[in-house]
Amino acid sequence: MGRVLQPAIFPAGFGPSTYGASFADVYDRWYDGITDSAATARFMAARCSTPTVVELGVGTGRLVADLSAAGLTVIGVDASLVMLSASDVNHVRLGADIASLPLRPGARVGGAICAFNTLFNLPTAELQRRVFIEAAAVVEGPIVIEAMTGSGLDEAESQSVGVSRMTADSLVLAATVVNHEAQTVTGQHVDISEAGIRLRPWHLRWSTPAQLDQMAADAGLQLTERYADWDGSAFDSTSDAHISVYR
Ligand SMILES: C[S@@+](CC[C@H](N)C(=O)[O-])C[C@H]1O[C@@H](n2cnc3c(N)ncnc32)[C@H](O)[C@@H]1O
Repeated sequence: MGRVLQPAIFPAGFGPSTYGASFADVYDRWYDGITDSAATARFMAARCSTPTVVELGVGTGRLVADLSAAGLTVIGVDASLVMLSASDVNHVRLGADIASLPLRPGARVGGAICAFNTLFNLPTAELQRRVFIEAAAVVEGPIVIEAMTGSGLDEAESQSVGVSRMTADSLVLAATVVNHEAQTVTGQHVDISEAGIRLRPWHLRWSTPAQLDQMAADAGLQLTERYADWDGSAFDSTSDAHISVYR
């Protein structure tokens, strides 16, 4: 059966700070340990050209403690002040859109990391390209992106609803709409408890690794390393995710 064309949903009212407003109060509880933060920190510490790293979309600082323990000083940029203020880890926090970085050349930033699909929170290819251009202007060392390849969605149903999490007194349903043509995944986590129902919307526009490489090239950057995970496992055409290093 052919794919169902989906109507364009969200972005109009879905701005850079919407994700944070939706998830800040549950982010650490739901997503602690979602990726290997210790391996992430080792990877970055081995590559940054100075000890200062900028995390693009730092959120609540899930990665910050391990980055700091690895000897890095973290400048965390995030569009959501609610996410930034939910962090209990000590680091520099800048409330800004990562497509318009509040950093200037000369800041001696030794690397940048944009982890856990955060680049895909920017809803267009053009805005994602801007992130590369802005980072390239201020970062002396590698710009490292962790993202899904999109291939895991090839066979995905256009629409699905499933149980995201469930306890004896709460249920979180995830309703997801995939638009393969637009390369978007739009979702609502519907959080149901005795307190009521809370909608937590999210939206991703994925780019393939080749599309990211082109955006990076447009910013004067070149892919120097690509792995399937933070431990350096080999990346191939079956990989669902990638860690890509641009210089
Ligand atoms: C999935 S969370 C990832 C947080 C953290 N990097 C981690 O790995 O746990 C995405 C973060 O990106 C932020 N974000 C989304 N769009 C943004 C934008 N245009 N500029 C800056 N931050 C943005 C959100 O507020 C959120 O904190």
